[in-house]
Amino acid sequence: MNGPAGPPNGSSPRQVPPVSLTPYPDGPVVLRGPFQLVDAGGAPVRTRRRAVALCRCGRSRLGSLCDGTHRSAGFRAPGGAPRRIPPVVTVPLRVDYR
Ligand code: FES
Repeated sequence: MNGPAGPPNGSSPRQVPPVSLTPYPDGPVVLRGPFQLVDAGGAPVRTRRRAVALCRCGRSRLGSLCDGTHRSAGFRAPGGAPRRIPPVVTVPLRVDYR
């Protein structure tokens, strides 16, 4: 008889924490979790961190990573979830779950 698939030898399945994206008011979007940041060509970008702040003001001298310039630039944007999520979301960033 075939039972439900499960981990071998009664071990518990590996729990993978979720990746989260948090847009902060007037600031970056913070990415937390087991992510891998890669560039547009797919090459890994070393972060050595479990969380990174992604620039959404377009003024950072670190490219896609926030360097705090949004404060002096007077960047204004709401935080939290968008009011409406379009049916198709395209993001120029690839996140690999490992
Ligand atoms: S959001 Fe911080 S520098 Fe752009």
